[in-house]
Amino acid sequence: MTPAAQPRVSLVTGASSGIGEAAALEAARAGDHVVLVARDESALAVVATACTDAGASSTTVVALDLGDDVAVARCVSRAVAITGSLDVVVNAAGVVAYGRTEDVPADVFEGVLRTNVLGSVNLARHVVPVLREQGYGTLVLVGSVIGHIGVPGMSPYVLSKWAVRALARQLQLENRDRFGVHVVYVAPGGVDTPIYAQAGNYSGVVGRPPPPVASPERVAHRIWRLVDHPKARVQVGLANNLMRFGFNVLPPVFDALVGPLFVVAAKDRTSPVAPGPGNVLASCPSKNALHGHQGSAILGIARNLQTLLPGRRRP
Ligand SMILES: NC(=O)c1ccc[n+]([C@@H]2O[C@H](COP(=O)([O-])OP(=O)(O)OC[C@H]3O[C@@H](n4cnc5c(N)ncnc54)[C@H](OP(=O)(O)O)[C@@H]3O)[C@@H](O)[C@H]2O)c1
Repeated sequence: MTPAAQPRVSLVTGASSGIGEAAALEAARAGDHVVLVARDESALAVVATACTDAGASSTTVVALDLGDDVAVARCVSRAVAITGSLDVVVNAAGVVAYGRTEDVPADVFEGVLRTNVLGSVNLARHVVPVLREQGYGTLVLVGSVIGHIGVPGMSPYVLSKWAVRALARQLQLENRDRFGVHVVYVAPGGVDTPIYAQAGNYSGVVGRPPPPVASPERVAHRIWRLVDHPKARVQVGLANNLMRFGFNVLPPVFDALVGPLFVVAAKDRTSPVAPGPGNVLASCPSKNALHGHQGSAILGIARNLQTLLPGRRRP
């Protein structure tokens, strides 16, 4: 990212972990005023110190739940008050729940939709008027390749990410009249972050990113390149287009393969997990981190295949 003549004000949600943390650090290195948003203040404070050390013009910590529209409104006002403008907003907050549709409890299902869908809507509701009034600025919505396909045992997340993609498209249509206002939709594939270990889980085993796995820094870097050179829709992940092709063009083949492939490539069958909401209903700050430390995806697949051999204990 090229440092602007005047430091930008960049608001990043999900800034205490994974892609959001990497995005905040890259903004800090560019000298931006960074506004760091997530639910837990202590985890944000750690990232704020790292952002100051990295060269941020200022750091502002705002602990809130994105599902709280009033809190989001206040946060956006606070960000605008820093210099009088809001240049970039990256919405990287997100949560996941695993489990068959009927096995995910109602409050957890709703919690995923609240953060991923309503959180994005709340942010757009308060950010877009500011950008339109200024006549410039960029809102980045982080979706997922899962927002383009179906995956068994991830209904809340699948629904939420299809909705984020739809929201991005809606916002792009509604803001065509403001040439300098950009809404960018970014869809990563597998990324090595703690979101898999943080997820609500009613499937019996922990999830893991399917290969090829990108680093959060790579996704963040792509996001900031897009801020400098906006495009409406971008996939980050070599396998994304293959998955989308299979889902759209060869649905019977996709449907037959996605279940078995998901179990082998996107789960860790050697790590049983007790059913629970993970971080869906409340922050689990001790598990937030820049990286997920998932290890080699290929070794993970090999371990999973071993559990499927005859005579091996199933989790
Ligand atoms: N990792 C992947 O493989 C992958 C792939 C495709 C897309 N994505 C998407 O990328 C985005 C970032 O994911 P990640 O992997 O970086 O996740 P992560 O490491 O688990 O970070 C999630 C961040 O969101 C915050 N957050 C969660 N719920 C919130 C809420 N209600 N209000 C405010 N902040 C909230 C968390 O902090 P608190 O819990 O303290 O609030 C944390 O800072 C998500 O939208 C995810 O769906 C990830």
